[in-house]
Amino acid sequence: MTPKILIIGASGQIGTELTYELRLKYGRNAVIAADIKEGKYHLMESGPFELLDAMNYDDVKACVEKHEITDVYLLAAMLSATGERFTMKAWDLNMNSLFHVLNLAKEGLIKKLFWPSSIAVFGPTTPRENTPQYTIMEPSTVYGITKQTGERWCEYYHEKYGVDVRSIRYPGLISWKTLPGGGTTDYAVAIFHEAIRVQKYRCFLSEETALPMMYMKDAVRATMDIMEAPQENIKIRSSYNLGGISFTPKMIAAEIKKHIPEFTIKYVPDYRQEIADSWPKSIDDTRAQQDWNWKHEYDLPEMTKTMLSHLEKSTAFSLEKS
Ligand code: SER
Repeated sequence: MTPKILIIGASGQIGTELTYELRLKYGRNAVIAADIKEGKYHLMESGPFELLDAMNYDDVKACVEKHEITDVYLLAAMLSATGERFTMKAWDLNMNSLFHVLNLAKEGLIKKLFWPSSIAVFGPTTPRENTPQYTIMEPSTVYGITKQTGERWCEYYHEKYGVDVRSIRYPGLISWKTLPGGGTTDYAVAIFHEAIRVQKYRCFLSEETALPMMYMKDAVRATMDIMEAPQENIKIRSSYNLGGISFTPKMIAAEIKKHIPEFTIKYVPDYRQEIADSWPKSIDDTRAQQDWNWKHEYDLPEMTKTMLSHLEKSTAFSLEKS
């Protein structure tokens, strides 16, 4: 049966690309994009869109009923850096939106649910190299606390009410179509934009800060793979570790320099350094590999090449149009 999909948070960094891919796979009208704000022109043109506040249970329910939705992807959230500035708002948004969709699934209005967790569930006491699936988790950011709490609730709703909820702990995600907002890993996207625009970048993390990262194409594929896997293969109902690549600002700068030799970088760490220092450097995703055949494709050189070529093309295009 073809699913009828609702993507909440479709105008954001992940939502935009996931909407395109799911529309390619299931058809434009099988995927309803929804967000509190409109997305980019291409997203708005690519199929149906609903203005929706993820915090409003009645509106989310009405949208699910109106479109006879079977599968929901909840991508609306406040990320780590912004979450530290608006602690209660981050808690309210990240938790209430999750409870709304979990409860709709519990009531039988939704068949399947995707909710992203993050490397932010880990904290300063977690082993930082090749972080295992099961380990110490004492997150020190509000965002991380909401993600860890969310994981516990997802597992609870699965165990107690049979809710088919699936989740991935995304690493930092790197993409060129839509900018991320308010995250600690966002430097790894901004660096490409600035490399093309002014050939220099002021980095808010120190040069040796290693973090787990992933190119968006891999992240979208992981998301679609876990949602398509047979129910019985999904053995972890909190959230799966997802690895990808691990690099420092110094390493990505060196890779960019291979393409743009005049590129320079300056390191001026700010409050986000402390957040990054509390997260893993690399992740062990053996369970995702075993349970639903996960394997990432993009490494640092391939991702750098792809990012630069797409951003060069889109800059040329917007200059032509202006
Ligand atoms: N990319 C997120 C952040 O930096 C982590 O999940 O907040």
